[in-house]
Amino acid sequence: MFLTKEEEKMLDGEYGEATRLAMRLIVKVGEALGAQKLININSAQVSGVSYKNIGDPGIQLLEDLVRLGGKSKTLSTLNPAGMDIKNWKKMGIPKEFAEKQLKIISLYMQMDILPTCSCIPYLIGNSPKYREHVAWAESSAVTYANSVLGARTNREGGPLALASALTGKTAFYGFHMEENRLPTHYIELKAKLRYPADYSILGYVVGKKIKTGVPLFSYPRMPPDMECLKALSAGLATSGSISLFHIENYTIEAIIKNKQLQNEKSNMEKIIVEEEEDIKPVFEEYKLTTNPDLIYIGCPHASIQEIRKIAQMLRNRKIKGDIEFWIGTAANIKILADRAGYTDIIEKSGGKIITDTCIVVSPLKTLGFQKILTNSAKACYYLTGLEKLDVGIATLEEIIKTAIEGV
Ligand code: F3S
Repeated sequence: MFLTKEEEKMLDGEYGEATRLAMRLIVKVGEALGAQKLININSAQVSGVSYKNIGDPGIQLLEDLVRLGGKSKTLSTLNPAGMDIKNWKKMGIPKEFAEKQLKIISLYMQMDILPTCSCIPYLIGNSPKYREHVAWAESSAVTYANSVLGARTNREGGPLALASALTGKTAFYGFHMEENRLPTHYIELKAKLRYPADYSILGYVVGKKIKTGVPLFSYPRMPPDMECLKALSAGLATSGSISLFHIENYTIEAIIKNKQLQNEKSNMEKIIVEEEEDIKPVFEEYKLTTNPDLIYIGCPHASIQEIRKIAQMLRNRKIKGDIEFWIGTAANIKILADRAGYTDIIEKSGGKIITDTCIVVSPLKTLGFQKILTNSAKACYYLTGLEKLDVGIATLEEIIKTAIEGV
């Protein structure tokens, strides 16, 4: 692999031991994947934050990197942690877990990585523009950054994203290269898609069908808003390993490369997505017949617009006493929700806005929840698969109805 003089110095340890170790990892992985050079990145999104996921070995690694002088060389943000950093007691998080979790956040901060603790960095200040190279972990954010923003990133694992943060570099391969960003499949949308839950399931269904590649969706009947695009990104990255999609005449690269895409459409494998055969059966399969213990909205983390909608729907209404109702979001989005009065409305109705975490990375089983209702196929996939919980998926409208009236 070709390295610049500066990169060689990093690899030789002239910028400290942490930089050397991080550089060695990037070069090794890059060489294994056939990269010919490294490129500079403009931001990193680092995963591996929840104590539930990284445990004591993860803390040890972070302590070593801090001791060796590791410092972020670029704008770096963090994925969700295992608890609300301020209000962990309200969540029922055990003290021992909380102490370890706070230690992890503090170690990242010592490396100058921002404690954003959110999977929607693109809505809270880490928002790369078209053709900007970044190194992000967190599959849903990677797919959103590539597809909606037109940024360039591979789906990094936690250690590699951290190595990129500590060096400001990534290997030039995969989705950093123009030739790998062209669609491989054409998805004709015959289903009526209106809500984020519909798009979440669409992503899940297409990911399951094609597993990998770059889908090009036909233009849906109604243009998807940001919440639908974020749900689609998460769904695609869940059942498959899809990190880039295009929507005809809608997403940035599909517009810019429209002529080329139209010429090549006939060579792509075609898949039709129908309402009755593809979308509805998933809603049917994951339907709760009794009340959930916990309703969770915010996978990926909720935007201020989603919180606003929920506040409007819950105003002057009461959530059933035996149902916990959580909205997961980023801490700074909650500040806005507080100021706007949305938090107050939601809390008065019996709901909570929790920040910095989500149901997948928090120690949910320890908290005693068994039956969950959500509008996210990603949350459903992980909670049924990894945690063996009983999970239902529904649209936000149906979820609010269940919260108020029960199943
Ligand atoms: Fe985000 Fe957690 Fe879902 S990290 S995408 S809310 S699983």
